[in-house]
Amino acid sequence: QKVYAGIDLGGTKILAVILDESGTILNKSEQSTDAQEGSEAVIQRMIQLIKDCLEPSYQLTGIGVATAGTLNAQEGIVALASNLGWNQVPLGKRLEQAFGVPVNLENDANAAAYGEWAAGAGRGTKNCVYVTVSTGIGAGIVSAGRLIRGRDSSAGELGHITIDWNGPRCLCGNVGCLELYASGTAIARRAQQLATQFPEEALMLTGRAGTNPITSRHVAEAASNGDELSAKILREAGQALGAGLVSIIHVMNPEVLIVGGGAASIGAPLLDPMHQVIAERGISSMAAGVKVVSPSLGKEAGAIGAALLVFDPIS
Ligand code: BGC
Ligand code: NA
Ligand code: ZN
Repeated sequence: QKVYAGIDLGGTKILAVILDESGTILNKSEQSTDAQEGSEAVIQRMIQLIKDCLEPSYQLTGIGVATAGTLNAQEGIVALASNLGWNQVPLGKRLEQAFGVPVNLENDANAAAYGEWAAGAGRGTKNCVYVTVSTGIGAGIVSAGRLIRGRDSSAGELGHITIDWNGPRCLCGNVGCLELYASGTAIARRAQQLATQFPEEALMLTGRAGTNPITSRHVAEAASNGDELSAKILREAGQALGAGLVSIIHVMNPEVLIVGGGAASIGAPLLDPMHQVIAERGISSMAAGVKVVSPSLGKEAGAIGAALLVFDPIS
């Protein structure tokens, strides 16, 4: 049986799915990673994860990888994935050597956009934007029924649009980038700052984290238990996210805007302020016309999209 592997490489985990030619998921698996361990160790984990998902009856026919960062997709190179600490990593070649099948790289958000558009919350639309709010922030854009890849499959770097042009410097080189304010990483960083500055007000938060560094999860949990500081952190992040989404709505005029990613699963404390900013600041006809929804493929969207792009490419 011919099968295709789809891999989603993120800042904290690798997720693999195996699809058959009809797009049905036959198998899936997940592993955590640590950016600190370096690209070689992560590639080894990825190879093992794919092997673990394969059954003797499967004939692996292609691999699609969704990865954070900018790419040189033709050469199979991950150009700059700052959240992974990757720079010019020849991931495609390494996987081709390991499995002897063609490998297609795509940006993680672009792949998830394709997956959600082909088989999820964007199905049946022609103009759909998917935004992932996770370690970083990224977008994938389907316009007029095509995934917009740009020159190197790097189109849709929404996390690195400027929302404060006098803001702090980002790892990407720009300043005041959206993901400095609204990603999971940003939420955790802001919480750490405030906990240091106002230890009294941050007791619920620091109590939750214990001796570990505060994460966006801790902030979400504290907020749902009535912690005001945490609620404020999420409100401000949600507002910044809304401001970023207003820009992509203005540029792309989508019918559907899908907001996914680990941090988006925090839900209302983050997403309500986001909706509010979109409603208040978006050009009214455009903002009112776009359905802002949650993904329907869940955390597998990127891996599914990456696999579909191998055997069902739209461009
Ligand atoms: C990267 C994007 C990616 C996003 C989500 C950003 O930091 O630049 O390429 O899509 O994070 O992982
Ligand atoms: Na993208
Ligand atoms: Zn940036």
